[in-house]
Amino acid sequence: MRPGGQLPAPERAGSGPAGLDLPGLEALAAEVASEAARLVVEERPARLDVARTKSSATDVVTVMDQRSQDLLRARLRAARPDDGFLGEEEGGRAGASPVTWVVDPIDGTVNYLYGIPSYAVSVAAVVGDPSVPGAWETVAGAVAGAATGELFRAHRGGGAWVERAGAPPARLQVGAGSELAQALVGTGFGYEAHVREWQAAVLLRVLPSIRDIRRIGSAALDLCAVAEGALDAYFERGLHAWDLAAAWLVLAEAGGVVTGLAGGPPDWSMVVAGPPDLQERLRSLVAEAAAQAPRTRQAAE
Ligand code: IPD
Ligand code: CA
Repeated sequence: MRPGGQLPAPERAGSGPAGLDLPGLEALAAEVASEAARLVVEERPARLDVARTKSSATDVVTVMDQRSQDLLRARLRAARPDDGFLGEEEGGRAGASPVTWVVDPIDGTVNYLYGIPSYAVSVAAVVGDPSVPGAWETVAGAVAGAATGELFRAHRGGGAWVERAGAPPARLQVGAGSELAQALVGTGFGYEAHVREWQAAVLLRVLPSIRDIRRIGSAALDLCAVAEGALDAYFERGLHAWDLAAAWLVLAEAGGVVTGLAGGPPDWSMVVAGPPDLQERLRSLVAEAAAQAPRTRQAAE
């Protein structure tokens, strides 16, 4: 991704790298994200158990995470057999085309497990290598809020849009970017204790300088909320490509900026997002807080 995380306008409206049909990729992302979102809501078992755990005992996978990912993989493979696929759960594959689909089958799995309605399916068409920070960019994507039925969507150069039942599609625009002291800021926490220890130390230093913190529980929905001006800004350590790939583009197309701690591309170590001026103020505050945080094992990574 280019420095600063701002996506440039495409050379020709609707076309992208290697002549990709960007509106077509967005439409496919929106269609499959919506279908998977319906699946996770309508086929949720009466008793939803944890199928397995990943990085810690609280980093859970339900049967519906895997079913959602399997559905996304099958639909995308049928529509575009040459593309690669990378998902949060098991079953990635390399492709022969320039496009890799980066998906989060349920972002906000803990909310889903507890019946809290902030969870989403995220689907992004990416060019470049999504496993290398800075080496990829999203060209089209969609985030489907499964419990709410809302759909956030974008392709590069086409603006960001939200669709809600009973309303015409609405174009998204980030908020005006209030002062840091007035900013409502989203964040999130990892699943591993040593990551959280560092995150808590940083939060301790950020919180006195802002209006308040929201921990919604889905990074994709946090970023879409910033794109809509429903949150002023957002930061989090520990995100993976599938958490942010689609929502990053939604936010960029809504006029927002997403960077890492030093202002380059976001990576696992930090994602800071918001309207341009506010994003820079928050980035600087978080960087200062991070520099003062105790050097735990996490900070050294
Ligand atoms: C998580 C959510 C959460 C964020 C975590 C993510 P998951 O994704 O986006 O808001 O704080 O860092 O791992 O596990 O629900 O797909
Ligand atoms: Ca996720």
